[in-house]
Amino acid sequence: MSTTAPAAATDGRPDGAPAYTAPSLPTADRVADLLARMTVEEKVGQMLQLDARDDLRDHVLRRNVGSVLHTSPERILEANRLTAETRLRIPLLVGEDCIHGHSFWPGATIYPTQLGMAASWDTDLVERVARATAREVAATGVHWTFSPVLCIARDLRWGRISETFGEDPFLIGELASAMVRGYQGDGLDDPTAILATAKHFAGYSETQGGRDASEADISRRKLRSWFLPPFERVAREGCRTFMLGYQSTDGVPITVNDWLLNEVLRGEWGWTGTLITDWDNVGRMVWEQQVQPDHAHAAAAAVRAGNDMVMTTPAFFEGALEAVERGMLDPDAFDAAVARILTLKFDLGLFEDPRLPAADLDDVIGTDEHAALNLDVARRSIVLLENDGTLPLDESEPLRVAVVGPLADDAQTQLGDWAGGSGQAGWLDGQPRSMITTVLDGLRGIGSWDVQYAVGAEILSLEQDPQGATFPDGQPRPPVVVPAPSDPALLAEAVRAAEESDVVVAVVGDRIELVGEGRSTATLDLIGGQGALLDALIATGKPVVVVLLASKPLVLPPSVADAAAVVWAANPGMLGGRALAELLAGRVEPSGRLPISFARHVGQQPTYYNQIRGQHGDRYADLTQEPAWVFGEGRSYTTVEYTDLAVVDTELGPDDTVVAEVTVRNTGARPTRETVQLYVRDAVTSVSWADRELKAFRQVDVAPGAAVRVRIELPVADCSIVDAAGVRRVEPGAFEVLVGPSSRPSALHAARFTVTG
Ligand code: NOJ
Repeated sequence: MSTTAPAAATDGRPDGAPAYTAPSLPTADRVADLLARMTVEEKVGQMLQLDARDDLRDHVLRRNVGSVLHTSPERILEANRLTAETRLRIPLLVGEDCIHGHSFWPGATIYPTQLGMAASWDTDLVERVARATAREVAATGVHWTFSPVLCIARDLRWGRISETFGEDPFLIGELASAMVRGYQGDGLDDPTAILATAKHFAGYSETQGGRDASEADISRRKLRSWFLPPFERVAREGCRTFMLGYQSTDGVPITVNDWLLNEVLRGEWGWTGTLITDWDNVGRMVWEQQVQPDHAHAAAAAVRAGNDMVMTTPAFFEGALEAVERGMLDPDAFDAAVARILTLKFDLGLFEDPRLPAADLDDVIGTDEHAALNLDVARRSIVLLENDGTLPLDESEPLRVAVVGPLADDAQTQLGDWAGGSGQAGWLDGQPRSMITTVLDGLRGIGSWDVQYAVGAEILSLEQDPQGATFPDGQPRPPVVVPAPSDPALLAEAVRAAEESDVVVAVVGDRIELVGEGRSTATLDLIGGQGALLDALIATGKPVVVVLLASKPLVLPPSVADAAAVVWAANPGMLGGRALAELLAGRVEPSGRLPISFARHVGQQPTYYNQIRGQHGDRYADLTQEPAWVFGEGRSYTTVEYTDLAVVDTELGPDDTVVAEVTVRNTGARPTRETVQLYVRDAVTSVSWADRELKAFRQVDVAPGAAVRVRIELPVADCSIVDAAGVRRVEPGAFEVLVGPSSRPSALHAARFTVTG
């Protein structure tokens, strides 16, 4: 390894400057040169990502950190000033959770949550959101977003459902791939590109009872069957970073899961990217999971398992150095990790340009162009679940509309988790109110209507956790939620407003205190006075449109069976209120489809559609097993028929392609965008398997009265299962393609084909 390449006038560095500063040298040469100059302390520090809200001087000057996260606009500049004081002047990588927009940047565009975006089933739209987000993020000195989330939503009680793309591995893979493309753009030398992160690797969402970061009881075969495929896809497509989850599996914390990190990720998939732990994973092995006696052992184990960057375990610095001193790690044990981190920095061009915040951000942050895109995604993210014909409301009539409910005008809640008001970043308390259109704002914007507003109910109050305000590692403990009792005065006012109206729009759902890390819920019910509010409104006999503004599927009270319509908007972002109003007024046709199933009762968990065949019966003694609304479902304002499903060739070899055709006819009076879904059922499998799995979908616009013949092609190679030995393969024999508007069996048409051996 050369440390003394002679200075050459042609390679772009000043005379006598070290080789790693020469922009024209290949990244690998620059990495090798710089690595050879680094002390062990500098290498260990390079592997650390620490919280920029803490002591930045200490992070940069004493611990030589390679990266910081959670940097306010001012702290980004300060951190960069400090790196200029370091010996080698290695620029910092700045990371942030920009997971549906540049979440914590004042005035940035905040889009619907990932789950909301997933309801669009539109890869192109999601890619455009990621591209627009990257533009805003890159202009502000942040190089790395911790997005997208590829966890599969399983138990709806889990607090992080809203961060996922829902319950289906195929849909997750499609959308994640689009998002990674959008973030990373044309390559890291593009100044608008940012690093994407596939997280949380892997199996974190397979919780115990929805409890966050509990043991993930999951076999290797099950991982390979459903949890790993989306990760494998983006790994092979060049997603530059992966982040771990928190879970242990079979007793092994993910941080030291040699099989997953080395054999599978880097071995089988040949991934060469940079792997970061989750928050204090290395420390957690000591104080939480108690599988390492001290930080020296924990650091040694984490390095040996192939972690490149260690998030927010400051003691990793001392621990790793102690591990070297005690002979547990060789001094060069950090080289591979440091080389991968430096590679990112060189590829981003940070040594030449640390990409500090641009002087004038007005042309980039929260632009009109991004607002237009945001409105488009919000419209596409809304799912119409029920409609007795009340919707769309007639805009040409002077309707009296009672807008009722605690979320009708709650601007910050509408943005959901990982946004200005969600509490992870202390430097802003919400995004500017003027950028947000609530449902009330949106409905008031429909000029012909007379809108009256009543809160109707409260949701919750907070109390400090009796165990204290912080966890053993000093992190804040979320406060305890106390459901609000129903308030007779608020209720009476709401009922009065309803009685004086032609139609009621009731906006209910959850709040940020019930969403996110460490905030799983024991129930899925509407909290506080909201259930009683819906009961009372529906009892008035007025048509009630229930707008469920909820981070995840919730269980609605039985009275909702008599509501006129039900609409779900999963934290629809800054312009969600306008999008909802447009949809209710019929300016926009509903096109969202569920990326996740809704339960009727919390006890039905888990409710995902692609469950494994085999159980006694198909219901509980006291309740059906059917979800309330199932994956793929969503209505439009018209009626649609699927007919004449045909598979073109029904005898196929393993390298062939299944070609299915179906006629989609709009039999109503309004246009529609249909999401034509194709599922595959393998008739007999060597091991028990899901009854049907989504394998492809197409979106088509169909005008009233028109019919479209939709053709979907699917490689036979995709009709695979994972066998008892954990090998993914196609098992010859009989199959069915199931095509229709949702995963609900009664909505699907079937056609058979055979795969020959
Ligand atoms: C912990 C979360 O699990 C992860 O998703 C996030 O990216 C990091 N904290 C950084 O905020």
